[in-house]
Amino acid sequence: MSSESYHEAVELLSEETKNMHRAIVSLKEELEAVDWYQQRAEACSDADLRAVLIHNKNEEIEHAMMVLEWIRRHNPTFDANIGTYVNSSGSILEVEASKTGGGSAGGATSTSLGIGSLKVTV
Ligand SMILES: [Fe+2]
Repeated sequence: MSSESYHEAVELLSEETKNMHRAIVSLKEELEAVDWYQQRAEACSDADLRAVLIHNKNEEIEHAMMVLEWIRRHNPTFDANIGTYVNSSGSILEVEASKTGGGSAGGATSTSLGIGSLKVTV
């Protein structure tokens, strides 16, 4: 079964890109499952079933982190950002500011190359 979520013709994509796509889709699915289990467990009126649902949710978190680790090992930008933000402490925006030399905590002077930098200013 092939993925139907490609945004470009599959014959134009490298094996590396297709594998990264598989990993990203898997990560999305695992995180979606975490969200669903969380909601089901919270709404569940049976304590035994709630415990099973929480157990299952926690396994999905493990699955998500395993896939994220694969992504980290195969993409240096993920690796760098995970190294910066995961296991940091304090204000996350301050972590970014300290990484980029400050000034981006408000978002207006960010020097990162994130999606925000692609916005057209008028
Ligand atoms: Fe899973």
